[in-house]
Amino acid sequence: MMNSKANKLQQVENLIKPIATCHVPDGTEVEAVVDQWVHAIATDSQFFCDNDISSANELKAEVIALLKANELLINIESFYELVFEHLTLKPIRDSNFKFIDLFAGIGGVRLGFQNNGGACVFSSEFDKHAQATYQNNHGEFPFGDITSINPISIPEHDVLLAGFPCQPFSHAGLKLGIDDTRGTLFHNIARIIEEKQPKFALLENVKGLVSHDKGYTLKVILKTLTDIGYSCNIPKELIENGTAKQIQTEAKKMVMKSVDFGVPQNRQRIYIMLWKNGLIEQFEYPKPTGVTTKVADILEDDPCEKLTISDRLWAGHQRRKIENKAKGKGFGYGLVTPESEYTNTISARYYKDGSEILLAQEGKNPRKISTREAARLQGFPEVFVPSKSNTQAYKQFGNSVTVPVISALANKVKQLME
Ligand SMILES: C[S@@+](CC[C@H](N)C(=O)[O-])C[C@H]1O[C@@H](n2cnc3c(N)ncnc32)[C@H](O)[C@@H]1O
Repeated sequence: MMNSKANKLQQVENLIKPIATCHVPDGTEVEAVVDQWVHAIATDSQFFCDNDISSANELKAEVIALLKANELLINIESFYELVFEHLTLKPIRDSNFKFIDLFAGIGGVRLGFQNNGGACVFSSEFDKHAQATYQNNHGEFPFGDITSINPISIPEHDVLLAGFPCQPFSHAGLKLGIDDTRGTLFHNIARIIEEKQPKFALLENVKGLVSHDKGYTLKVILKTLTDIGYSCNIPKELIENGTAKQIQTEAKKMVMKSVDFGVPQNRQRIYIMLWKNGLIEQFEYPKPTGVTTKVADILEDDPCEKLTISDRLWAGHQRRKIENKAKGKGFGYGLVTPESEYTNTISARYYKDGSEILLAQEGKNPRKISTREAARLQGFPEVFVPSKSNTQAYKQFGNSVTVPVISALANKVKQLME
């Protein structure tokens, strides 16, 4: 960013910081509120606001008046340029819809929806390393722990996005209402949906959610959301009265594979698309692109020699594979060549020993993939800047989503928004 612009943005932030301080929830940095306000002005969105102190609209008018009085805001067009011009990954100027990014990680879900004309109006992620990568790429410091955020304070939005950790529910509450989900992160999502009434919500999770706790976890999630006025492709009648098996059979149709969307990775995730009752009849999940993939598509020309695993590690992987096979416990490491159609799923633990994805090399031990290759395996754009720490970068890409899968889903949502 040119110095004068960087200085001006700094002046904007310094001016509004004292007002933002009293709106900061526990577990969140003041920077998050400041960034949210600055982006809200640039994208014509609502302010995050502690409603016990003021109203979101009055607060926004007050901050805009202050910036105008200090000649830091002339019009929205030039303010948008000031805020976003220096970023490579940014929303379009006149966004078609607004979304919030919960359990945001490094913003893979955000990228898919931003690519399709959406503007992010609020993000939450409590891991400090992921927050740093998020800020570096999206110019926005995410809010912290979602359990400390009052849903009323969250800005209005059309789409809620959340890839949340899968947790079991208590079997004690037989009503299976929203109150029975207390103490889980899903409860926080459901409370936000109930309060803010977005048109759509996308819940992303591991494929194992379908069979988690013999199907009970999924049933509670779906039952809670249908009770608060949301629909998905599984009929309400089936959610209420169907067997866990029947619900699981339907839920499997919400599972999408990354390899079907142009990236050479065998990743399967469930994408539960929900909408406000009556908005649409059914959601049409995107069809596979039909593009054939090869591991070679994501490989660097000149990979670092340090990626080659040591004799000791390689011997350990081979030994464990034999031991596991004898115990009937899966197959251990996953070895691919550039000609393989896809790799195993990259997970958050990849940095430990690289066992799930090893690349065979002529005349030497196999190698791990690089962090850039991990980014490509998840369909991140080349301009995305990974964490400087390799451990964090592997963790963050492993925890993230395959961007082209999210883009395909977002494209369907965009069409329904028109
Ligand atoms: C599976 S990852 C989602 C990654 C994200 N979809 C992406 O594209 O990078 C789940 C994230 O939720 C975050 N998380 C877990 N509990 C949280 C909480 N209470 N508040 C905020 N973030 C939380 C974790 O730190 C983790 O980064």
